[in-house]
Amino acid sequence: MQDENETPQLTEDEKKLFEELMPEDLAEILDTGVNRRHFLKLITLASGGILAAQSAVAEQVLIRPLSAPLPAELSPTTIENGVTISFKVNGTARKLMVDSRMTLLDTLRERLELTGSKKGCDHGQCGACTVIVDGRRVLSCLTLAAACEGKTVKTIEGIAQGNDSRNAASPTVRLHPVQEAFLKHDGFQCGFCTPGQICSAVALLEEARNGELSYVSETIRKKAAPLQLSTEEIRERMSGNICRCGAYPNIVAAIQEVQSGKPVEQTWHIIG
Ligand code: FES
Ligand code: FES
Repeated sequence: MQDENETPQLTEDEKKLFEELMPEDLAEILDTGVNRRHFLKLITLASGGILAAQSAVAEQVLIRPLSAPLPAELSPTTIENGVTISFKVNGTARKLMVDSRMTLLDTLRERLELTGSKKGCDHGQCGACTVIVDGRRVLSCLTLAAACEGKTVKTIEGIAQGNDSRNAASPTVRLHPVQEAFLKHDGFQCGFCTPGQICSAVALLEEARNGELSYVSETIRKKAAPLQLSTEEIRERMSGNICRCGAYPNIVAAIQEVQSGKPVEQTWHIIG
């Protein structure tokens, strides 16, 4: 049995480690062995080193300019569970390898540099990430990129008429009527929800043209196409898009104006 008072002997490797990490404590450690204070200090230094290494990797990923190519170690060939998807985004055919669990939102923002679609909640509750897939509005934070194989995706970057990923600077590009109406009616304040609101509104107008019914449609027996949407209908159909700035009356007025083709007066509520 080891004598309690015997000073533990450190191996050469242990001495080297303490010399590197805790040079000011080395003499004490050699005299008395490792005590609780030394042990805690050693653990703190070791976890600091791990954190620093992780931060260095995170920095590479997060501070990298969007236009810079991915570093080799982050290139798609190293993706675990990688699947290759081919789809059309804003009129341009794209083919890329993604993790099979990657969402459409992350693919658009992080792989295709289309950062117009916003990540608000990442839980399907705010609508900031709304894009149009095969003509239907979807929440891209709840849609897997792999599920878009062979589909057409339209994001806010592709909403303006004549705009696609290839000729964004073309002089023939014209804002979509919904975009113009949002500008006219001040349909945004901070603008964070606006890409999702506009994508949703564009798809909503198509739904109305096709006579698709909603929860508050007045007539459900006789399907009329196109539908004329009341304020209540627009509010209901846009209810998945949350605006924390509260620009709702202006958003509804903008959509009403595009749908009716007639100028819609702004309604101001003066309180007090
Ligand atoms: S980010 Fe997709 S619904 Fe909020
Ligand atoms: S304009 Fe700010 S969240 Fe809608």
